[in-house]
Amino acid sequence: MPQLNSAIISTGSYLPKQYVTNDDLAQKIETSDEWIRTRTGIEGRHYGDETETTTFMATKAAERALEQANLTAEDIDMIVVATVTPDYTFPSVACLMQKQMGLTNASVAFDVQAACSGFVYGLNLIDAQIKTGQIKRAILVGVEKFSSILNWEDRSTCVLFGDGAGAVVIEATDNPNRGVIASKLHANGNLADLLHGTGGIAATQTAGHVSMQGREVFRHAVREMVGVVSPLLEKNNLKTDDIDWLIPHQANMRIIEAVTKQLDFPMEKTIQTVATHANTSAASIPLALDDANRKGTFKQGDLLALSAFGAGFTWAGALLRW
Ligand SMILES: CC(C)(COP(=O)(O)OP(=O)(O)OC[C@H]1O[C@@H](n2cnc3c(N)ncnc32)[C@H](O)[C@@H]1OP(=O)(O)O)[C@@H](O)C(=O)NCCC(=O)NCCS
Repeated sequence: MPQLNSAIISTGSYLPKQYVTNDDLAQKIETSDEWIRTRTGIEGRHYGDETETTTFMATKAAERALEQANLTAEDIDMIVVATVTPDYTFPSVACLMQKQMGLTNASVAFDVQAACSGFVYGLNLIDAQIKTGQIKRAILVGVEKFSSILNWEDRSTCVLFGDGAGAVVIEATDNPNRGVIASKLHANGNLADLLHGTGGIAATQTAGHVSMQGREVFRHAVREMVGVVSPLLEKNNLKTDDIDWLIPHQANMRIIEAVTKQLDFPMEKTIQTVATHANTSAASIPLALDDANRKGTFKQGDLLALSAFGAGFTWAGALLRW
């Protein structure tokens, strides 16, 4: 039996219709385009309306990925959705998507909660299922409706986040030059307080709001997003120079700049979507992937490095051949 690899064969995304600029926010809270732009690189973000639920956005992104792969709903045998803003406590967004899209052959469907690292966590789980021959083809979605948990009394956090969904279809391949080479997941719950939701279904019977100690989070994000890439490269006899495209979690332009600088990696080869998406948490990496993919950025065989960091703390990295 040849060794199976897990290849991303298509991408899709959905951004809500409403686009809110920094100037729009400055009409509502005490902030300015200048403050937000210079500290974060963010110019605007999308917010979903009541019809653009988490499941709706996830479904749209997944439909676009299926369409690009020329596949139909019956071709999928696993659904993983990374999110911290599901529509309901249960069932999972993955199961609601399954119903919505008629993914009748999917025997496994569940949500992953690893905040902004959720997409790479999901990739690692699907890769293991494919490499052990348990499934052939999966849809992985990163989706968030962060506008539903923003605290409009806290200007240091509410300006940073946006809504959206990104999806990929991942398929088993026996091509040794395609797919996930390696991925690694990490967590440190001791630092949970630095970035957390203030509510939860069992604790407060509310969803709560985002709470963050920005400076501390910034420091840890840069350290872990750099630190997760190098060991993956070393273990696979690769160097930073071998990376064709770096796809970092899109939290903040200054974090992305610091990560690329410390990795000694060129900004021109770093995918950047934070300016118009803001931080979409678990959706940020698949949204960036779809944006670049639809622009024709990646060539077959390109080495992609994904690097994510989020609440928990969680962080994760992956190397894959396009
Ligand atoms: C949030 C962040 C942009 C704040 O930048 P900072 O340089 O650390 O700024 P500070 O928190 O020190 O705040 C500086 C001042 O700006 C003010 N301020 C905060 N938010 C503001 C806003 N939206 N508009 C205007 N002023 C604001 C503060 O009140 C403070 O004022 P003061 O000095 O009078 O008290 C920065 O810490 C950051 O990017 N952190 C990482 C956040 C992140 O990406 N997290 C997700 C990772 S998954």
